[in-house]
Amino acid sequence: MTHVLVVGSGLAGLIAAIRATDAGHTVTLVTKAALPDSNTRYAQGGIAAAMFPDDSVESHVVDTLRAGAGLCDPVAVQVLCTEGPDRVRDLIRFGVDFDRDESGVTRGLEAAHSRSRVLHAGGDATGAAIEVALVTTVRERAERARTLPSAIAGSEPRLVIREHTMLVDLVVRDGRVTGAILLGPDGELQSVAADSVILATGGAGSLYPHTTNPALATGDGVAAAWRAGAAVADLEFYQFHPTALAVPGTPLVSEAVRGEGAVLRNALGTRFMLDVHPGAELAPRDVVARSIAHEMAEQDGAPVLLDATGLGRDLLETRFPTITAACRLAGLDWAAEPIPVAPAAHYWMGGVLTDTSGRASLPGLFAVGETARTGAHGANRLASNSLLEAAVFADRAVRALGDSLADPADAADRDATRPSHIPPHGPTPGHPAGPRAESGAQRTVADRDAIQRVMWQYAGVLRSGDGLATAATTLADWIRPATGPDAAPGPEAQIRAYEDANLFDLARITVVAALGREESRGAHYRSDFPTSRPELAHTVAHSRELRRETSEPEPVIEAEEAIAC
Ligand code: SIN
Repeated sequence: MTHVLVVGSGLAGLIAAIRATDAGHTVTLVTKAALPDSNTRYAQGGIAAAMFPDDSVESHVVDTLRAGAGLCDPVAVQVLCTEGPDRVRDLIRFGVDFDRDESGVTRGLEAAHSRSRVLHAGGDATGAAIEVALVTTVRERAERARTLPSAIAGSEPRLVIREHTMLVDLVVRDGRVTGAILLGPDGELQSVAADSVILATGGAGSLYPHTTNPALATGDGVAAAWRAGAAVADLEFYQFHPTALAVPGTPLVSEAVRGEGAVLRNALGTRFMLDVHPGAELAPRDVVARSIAHEMAEQDGAPVLLDATGLGRDLLETRFPTITAACRLAGLDWAAEPIPVAPAAHYWMGGVLTDTSGRASLPGLFAVGETARTGAHGANRLASNSLLEAAVFADRAVRALGDSLADPADAADRDATRPSHIPPHGPTPGHPAGPRAESGAQRTVADRDAIQRVMWQYAGVLRSGDGLATAATTLADWIRPATGPDAAPGPEAQIRAYEDANLFDLARITVVAALGREESRGAHYRSDFPTSRPELAHTVAHSRELRRETSEPEPVIEAEEAIAC
């Protein structure tokens, strides 16, 4: 029996914990907040899968590859779409009650899908329904393990849940991940040994001031993996959802609303998407987000309007209860008048480089869900493929746990793509890498607000080489936030400091990756390189050494040879 440490309690982490327990491993499930607090909980649209008679895996594959704009790994996409339906059936077995009508399970349409194939639950509360079902399952199993008579307990798989416990760093010995340093609810650091670590910490929407993610999405797993020396890839591809409600907290207004027929209008009332793309409001997500950003620039930054009044109050309230409640909270009646919307950071296509079984480039390390860069999303994720990816690859990672222990070969050498040896790209042209000597002038300590401002302005929906170079220079001038009990007394302040340090690390790598990608493709748009360059493929960054207190690793970016897609 082996000990598996699962970090994160969204769909990916919960499935990994359940499956690993089923497979006979001893599991410790660690999560930074309470068990149900995760990005999954906020997913609205649903989960896409080819489960209906008029649909096919091939059609889902084609749509996913098209959205990914030439940067998908076709094998990962095939795995995603082929295994997806079985994983959705698993969710149903775990108690997820997808919406039905008299003809069976109902389905929605979202942008860039050639067919309606998005299952949903609670109307627009799909993520919350999944989270509740899986949290219940995990808690039941943990309780069962806890209450077993001690004579039997030793021979049964065990599941221990540790809430309010943050991943600080991975422990690497002889090139293998052997555990993690955790920050417990008491503010104490603790080293936990594990045969395998599965990272499922979600994305890093908190890199940006406007995001549909909860504040806890600070990329902890990706940052820790990078510091440990694991390869991370394609971080420049951050998807901005076109329609977040333009009120504090920027709650998501699901694409499914446009799928039902809502339209976008500028301040003059014009349906501007009609002139932009044949798909109009259901054009690919990046196209809609950029068009909204352009319209907003034309109207002094004012949000555009989502007009759902034509859908009728009944449909809005029954199909979209979560959004109806968010509108109400903001004093808006979307059945009566158009609502203000604007793009917000939503989903990270980049992450820890893995193969199609979730293996990272360090033996003993796995990454699943938004934390991973499996290659299933390429430059732009197809709507409602994220929950599916989390379910499919978490399941596969658990099946591969044994392999990892038996054969700790470099995951990047398996079916993940390999870096070519194009010369490394420095972090900022004209600005030396590495911590600089104090030059007399006071250097700024990076804080979250400042990082978010820089990222939004220069590495957001619309980017340029000059802007990204400014961002890189600015970040290189700042000091990484101090962490640890001396720097930040009290558990909450400590968590905040570790999160800010993670965001700082990730902002720097993301900006360097975006600066190096001299093209526009998928979610990455550069005004100085407005067309795509198919010869450019993936960006891989890995630190060459573990972080030491006195020196920070600098991002090393390598381009990869194009892969056919
Ligand atoms: C949405 O409901 O619009 C979000 C779905 C997704 O990001 O896949």
